[in-house]
Amino acid sequence: MSNSLFRRKSIDKIVKDADLPADDIHSHGLKRVLTVKDLTFFGIAAIIGAGSFSSLGGAVFNGGPGVVVLFVITGIACAFTAFCYSEFASRIPVAGSAYTYAYASFGELFAWIIGWALIMEYSIGNIYVAFSWSDYFTSFLHKVNIHVPDYLTCSYIEAKKAVAEGSVNQELISAWNNAPMLGSLRIIFDLPALIINLLITYLVYRGIKESRNFSNAMVVLKLAIVGLVVLVGGYLVFSNGLTFNWTPANEEGIKSFMPNGFSGVMMAVSGVFFAYIGFDAVSVLAEESKNPQRDLPKGMILSLVICTIVYILLTLVLTGAVHYKNFDGVGDPLAFIFEAQNLNIGWMQLLVSICAVVAMTSVLLVFQMGQPRIWMSMSRDGLMPPVFQKIHTKFKTPSFATIVTGLVVGIPILFTDKTFVLDFTSIATLFAFVLVCGGVLLIPRKEKVAGRFTIPYVNGKLIFPLIIIGAVVILSVFTKNYFSDKFDYSFEHKVEALSDIIPAHFTDTAMVAGNVEQYLVSENDTDSSFIKLTNTVRSTPLPADKYEAAAGFIADKDPVQSKTAKISTLIFWFLMAALAVSSFLKNYSLIPLLGVSTCLYLLTGMSLSNWLWFGGWLLLGLIIYFLYGYKKSKLASPPAA
Ligand code: ALA
Repeated sequence: MSNSLFRRKSIDKIVKDADLPADDIHSHGLKRVLTVKDLTFFGIAAIIGAGSFSSLGGAVFNGGPGVVVLFVITGIACAFTAFCYSEFASRIPVAGSAYTYAYASFGELFAWIIGWALIMEYSIGNIYVAFSWSDYFTSFLHKVNIHVPDYLTCSYIEAKKAVAEGSVNQELISAWNNAPMLGSLRIIFDLPALIINLLITYLVYRGIKESRNFSNAMVVLKLAIVGLVVLVGGYLVFSNGLTFNWTPANEEGIKSFMPNGFSGVMMAVSGVFFAYIGFDAVSVLAEESKNPQRDLPKGMILSLVICTIVYILLTLVLTGAVHYKNFDGVGDPLAFIFEAQNLNIGWMQLLVSICAVVAMTSVLLVFQMGQPRIWMSMSRDGLMPPVFQKIHTKFKTPSFATIVTGLVVGIPILFTDKTFVLDFTSIATLFAFVLVCGGVLLIPRKEKVAGRFTIPYVNGKLIFPLIIIGAVVILSVFTKNYFSDKFDYSFEHKVEALSDIIPAHFTDTAMVAGNVEQYLVSENDTDSSFIKLTNTVRSTPLPADKYEAAAGFIADKDPVQSKTAKISTLIFWFLMAALAVSSFLKNYSLIPLLGVSTCLYLLTGMSLSNWLWFGGWLLLGLIIYFLYGYKKSKLASPPAA
């Protein structure tokens, strides 16, 4: 059994099964119409969206102007990964993306796991984008004096949580209080999010050409307006003499580009990573590209470079225009900098709202196209029912899979919320990236073929172990107790003790959250800051019903100090050591090694609840695999009936 779990499909067989001769025009029913320009545009369409328009505010609030550094680091991590995707895309130019790549490198079980995880990237990620789209769309309507009732513009869970936690968000509170009732159930759901999902599903169903034209037009508009924000905002930062905002004073009054230190910057990691997700979606268009081996890598890397530059400029403009602390709770940061109390340009506010809606529509479109194509590949391999590879006779699109995608995105809109789906998406995508980079290490190297992308081979035999040893030495010398701290769990005990002594004092989760946040960001000295925190919390009288939420918040909050982060960091270093030894023995290629390492590092920022949900999701996937895919696989022996 164990052998058959890791049964692999050879690259030749994958390409043969997909029936893809190089000059094929209508291979497997999909139309080959996409060029490098289209693919780059698709990349940008998928990348710039909710991450930059919504969560950038929270990111700069946590990290200050120094978040630019995180954009650079994450951009580099994604570039390594893009090289690995490109290598696979060049060798296996079929739809299916990371799923297909894993089939060739790690075997069927991992391929299934990746395919299962990609549902979270594409479908669940789209739920987050649909929610953000709805936020901007309703605020745009608001600006032009059209008012949709609050109970039709947010999720049920968000409204319920807001009331339970005594949130100051008036829209959510009003949604709960004014919602019509069906028996004892309040009717609260995000109508614009549902409608946009319906429209996008229809567009994708209708066909790639229409989708492409629509997507290209949106990208041009999106880049033009983002460019305008950078130009107008940048000009005003300099002409109003606001550049001092780039070095705000920290708690001790010292001016710094990273006022909350590097740990403050790292707190923004999942939002920043989400902003980059999407470049990989280009690879699912392999079967619709004119020359996938040459064009997919170019499209992916070009779109990544363009977006990294855009993000760096946007972050600089944002943090120059407004002091970073003013971004607390700001969900529409790009419009916010033009508000009256800031740069004060009304027409820019309106333009940015329109742009945000456009930007997110294109993300929705690309992700909604990606999901059915992955399912189509899985179905070809027998791991999903045959109906998932059904191509519409007239529109030439995977019609059934497209409709199922619409349902998988649409139904959860009724009963999930933004935070939940964001975390889910990020962890699953990073996981998929690790396996793609790892997969490149496992497939045999090949000779360069003219006109095709080949990942540049730099022998990691000595360089990679030296990088790891260098990093360990630098961390040990320059970061006090970096490694010993990972074995010290007294902080967690103190948090538990803190929770025990003050249950009756919690009234205000936000206040407690603020204190914890301040503590985590500004302090290194655990003992004295713990006492300070305890005293602050004690000094405020608080009712007991908020205890659970606040205690949960404390336990889950800190990516640097929490038990989960410490354990995952230890596992990270253990894996790095193992990888260094393997690369020494097997002469592994440096770029995929760095891809695996950087993505694994970003995974250390995930919280325990993220891991638990993700683990549960994988378990469900495995059950389905053993009940269906394992038996029906085309590689099953004897062949399935
Ligand atoms: N990168 C995409 C976005 O930010 C997912 O919306």
